[in-house]
Amino acid sequence: MAAAGSQLAVLCSLVLLLAAACHGALEVGYYNNTCPTAEQIVRAEVKKAVSANAGTGAGLIRLLFHDCFVEGCDASVLLDATEDNPQPEKQGMPNRGSLRGFEVIDAAKDAIEATCPGTVSCADILAFAARDASYFLSGYAIDFDMPAGRLDGRNSSADETLAYLPKPTADLGDLVAKFADKGLDVGDMVVLSGAHSVGRAHCTSVQDRLGNDTDMDPSFNRWLRNKCLITGPSDPANNATVRQDTVTGKVLDSQYYTNVLRQRVLFKSDAALLGSPETATMVGDYANGDGQWESMFEAAMVKMAAIGVKDATNGEIRINCRSVN
Ligand code: HEM
Ligand SMILES: *[C@@H]1O[C@H](CO)[C@@H](O)[C@H](O)[C@H]1NC(C)=O
Ligand SMILES: *[C@@H]1O[C@H](CO)[C@@H](O)[C@H](O)[C@H]1NC(C)=O
Ligand SMILES: *[C@@H]1O[C@H](CO)[C@@H](O)[C@H](O)[C@H]1NC(C)=O
Ligand SMILES: *[C@@H]1O[C@H](CO)[C@@H](O)[C@H](O)[C@H]1NC(C)=O
Repeated sequence: MAAAGSQLAVLCSLVLLLAAACHGALEVGYYNNTCPTAEQIVRAEVKKAVSANAGTGAGLIRLLFHDCFVEGCDASVLLDATEDNPQPEKQGMPNRGSLRGFEVIDAAKDAIEATCPGTVSCADILAFAARDASYFLSGYAIDFDMPAGRLDGRNSSADETLAYLPKPTADLGDLVAKFADKGLDVGDMVVLSGAHSVGRAHCTSVQDRLGNDTDMDPSFNRWLRNKCLITGPSDPANNATVRQDTVTGKVLDSQYYTNVLRQRVLFKSDAALLGSPETATMVGDYANGDGQWESMFEAAMVKMAAIGVKDATNGEIRINCRSVN
């Protein structure tokens, strides 16, 4: 494998015309010949997990976002702590205690290794899983091909997470800048934020929104304060969660944009989408169905899933998604 990898690297650097193919050109059906059942295996595992708990599907969609924004879409977010690397991305502030879905990736990887050992990267499994979670959570309305051919990275550092992942307290300028940093434009940012139509947030993530002076609907504000205000270290709100979307919380749909318009969203970063005429117009279009949010989301997920993809010069196909080879 190492020899084949370095030969490929040499080929890539010599044949400039092939450079695009060697550096992150992903393909639909990438495993057609080498592991034709790979995508079916992932889909079956995601189906099982989402039927048991819709929240796991939300977790998988978020996992892809958090993977891709830090070190590229290279499964760096899946790496566990080791003696040599005690603080991987998982331990970073945006991730620790809130990411979920890892065991679905493990189950898919185990089943794939049993069928086609050493062939399918964890980064691709995660991209397929996020796609499949979107498919099931949307009641099949979001249904798209996910190109593949990513390799798995070897670096993962908690320190990098806060540098690249936007905070829930971000304003519109921060959000646009963090997405632009990764080659995503303001439209992609608005479309991808619609993922906050599923899943949960920990009350610890909304403490800045509990005053009554925020740009929030007053009844939503009272409801959120009742559930989430942390009054001390033993307050159960320290561990409590709330739904992202209190209307259709288990369905991945455009309800999020109606919630933004009604000021019934959890984060400052959600409310911030009304902060410019350009983004507010997009919110309005997606809310009333004119924007065809589902197909925009499909395209934006493909675009996000191509960030910083690794090749044979800097990646590998892990055997276990939690540790480098
Ligand atoms: C725009 C900037 C974003 C910010 C500031 C942000 C922030 C957050 C925060 C703080 C949570 C709650 C975590 C917790 O307390 O458990 C969350 C949840 C979530 N986010 Fe985002 N997010 C952003 C964009 C995205 C994007 C681009 C996606 C995917 C396309 C996404 C998907 C999700 C999902 C599905 C959940 C629910 C996770 C679960 O239930 O486990 N978010 N987000
Ligand atoms: C894999 O097969 C599908 C369906 O026949 C086709 O659309 C796709 O282009 C193929 N991809 C590759 C890389 O062979
Ligand atoms: C806002 O909160 C403050 C302090 O809790 C309270 O005195 C005030 O009456 C509240 N205002 C409204 C409009 O609820
Ligand atoms: C929150 O959960 C953790 C882990 O289960 C537990 O140790 C802690 O006591 C809980 N805190 C509160 C305030 O319930
Ligand atoms: C990341 O990994 C590459 C090899 O894949 C290595 O050359 C580089 O130094 C690493 N960077 C960090 C910050 O660890």
